[in-house]
Parts: sequence; C-alpha cells; structure tokens
Amino acid sequence: MLAVQIKSINREARDVVSLEFVAADGVQLPHFEAGSHIDVHLPNGLIRQYSLCNAPHERDRYVVGVLLDPNSRGGSKAVHELLEGAEIKIGEPRNFFPLVEAKGRSLLFAGGIGITPILCMAESLQKVGANFELHYCSRSREQAAFVGRIEQAPFAGHASFHFDDEKAADIPSLLSSPGAEDHLYVCGPSGFMDFVLKTAEAQGWAAGQLHREYFSVEPKSDADNGSFEVQIASTGQIITVGAETTAAEALIAVGVDIPLSCEQGICGTCVTRVLDGVPEHRDMYLTEDEQKANDVFTPCCSRAKTARLVLDI
Ligand code: FES
Repeated sequence: MLAVQIKSINREARDVVSLEFVAADGVQLPHFEAGSHIDVHLPNGLIRQYSLCNAPHERDRYVVGVLLDPNSRGGSKAVHELLEGAEIKIGEPRNFFPLVEAKGRSLLFAGGIGITPILCMAESLQKVGANFELHYCSRSREQAAFVGRIEQAPFAGHASFHFDDEKAADIPSLLSSPGAEDHLYVCGPSGFMDFVLKTAEAQGWAAGQLHREYFSVEPKSDADNGSFEVQIASTGQIITVGAETTAAEALIAVGVDIPLSCEQGICGTCVTRVLDGVPEHRDMYLTEDEQKANDVFTPCCSRAKTARLVLDI
C-alpha cells in the first residue's frame, strides 16, 4: 500500500476529472507498464480500480481519470469529492491489460472514459516507434476527456476522434482485413466493447489478437437469481445464499473473510477455489478457459448452477 498526496485535480470533460497523485514522502513511485491500474482506497471505505493514464516512464506521479457515474455505488462520487492536498492510500500498480509485442499493427479502441489505459498504451507505443492507431469514440466532444492532451501529444498523428454527434466511427471498416500479427485493444462501456469485439471476430480477428479491459459492467437484474448453498470445506458449515444476496455477502455475514474490491467481477480480488459444484460465472475477470474449468469463481457476483458449491476456505 502506498501513501500518496493529491497534487492536482483537473476537470477533463463533462463529469470527468483527472487526479494527479505524488508520493506523500516525496520519493519515486513504483514503475508501471501501459494498461496498469491502481486500487484507490476512498475515505468512505470503498476501494475502486482506476487505470493509470500518464506516460509509463514517469516515476514522480500517477494520473487517473474518473467519470462521475450517475449510477455510482459510492465510488466515483467519493472520488469527485476528493480535494487537492488530501492524503489517501493506493495499491501498487497491477496490470491485467498489458501490451503484447506486435510485429504488425496495434489498434487501440477507446469508448468514453475507457480512454485512460489506452492513452498510456499510446504513450508507450509512440516511445518505441510502433505501428499503431488510436480510435477514440465518444458521444460528443464535450464528453470526451483528454482531447486537448491527445491533440498536443507526439502521437497525435496516430489518433482519430469519432464523436457520435459529428460522425460516428465506422467500426466494421476500421477492423477490416486484420493482419496475422495485428493486435486489438479495447476499453470502454461493456456495450461498446462487446460491439467492437464481436465486429472484430466477424472480420476474422483471432481470439489471441483481441485484448480487453472492462472498467464497469452493466448491473445485472436479480430477477433470475435463484438461491443456492455454499459449504466451507474446512469446517463443513453450510450457508444459504438468498436470491438477493451475493455469495460474498452471505459468507461475510457469518464471519468469513472474503477480500473484496470492485464487487463487480472485474478485479479478481475475491477469486475463491471451488472444490465441488458448478459455478454460474458472471465475472469479466476469469478467462473463458478458467471459467470452463469451474474450479474457481468470484463470489462478489457469480452464483451457482448446482444446488451447492463447496469452497476451499
Ligand atoms: Fe473484484 Fe470480486 S471483488 S472480482
């Protein structure tokens, strides 16, 4: 855990602020790579993940951009209430969305606030002279953060803006004719990402060429939730998970320590081994193969296909 001070807060677009963190003790911050995120420990006790969007070679600061989510469960609202000069705690950078070394083109697709890790990738690719394109899609220029920074950046020539109220992106044509060594990176709202990824698949991109990072998922209705049981393997205790609670909530309620962070199936903090039973995976964190193996699940959001899951805790 790192203690940082908020050196500056800037408005980047409607409902988007950037926060610049510096080490509270003035020393250098740990190195990070493009695509990394940090856990931000908020004064209200919530922990939220935000992608770093400054250039990865910078060691004196971390910058994140945060959209005020109208459906905020308390995270983005608390970020928008932070003040310059405040000291907070953050986690060390972690990277679940790394760039791979590409002999072909790297196509970066950002939807809305999904621009944050993509900016960092563009900085990295520019530095090594890579062949890349950045496509930034947003409803309008007014809602698009960091436009000025991109226009002034050394990689400006690689960037294209696609504003829905001016001229929306023609994604099928941008993704046509993939080369075998090309790679596609996409970050944004889940509807945008699903569209880009499905279009890419239809245009012949292979699964290994597609890289994604979800920063939020559409809340899933509880309407089709059933109840199920979880059993703690070490004690044999059986706990019922009702339709309106998550497995993590049910376990925590009886005193089991389940580490939580995003509570949306994005970060992987809560991943728990499953010894028996079949989970119904609802997360975005595990790969398709990991989900198929059914030997771990994310109790913050995933449920069960069988009446009981036996957990390795
Ligand atoms: Fe983030 Fe469960 S807490 S995946």
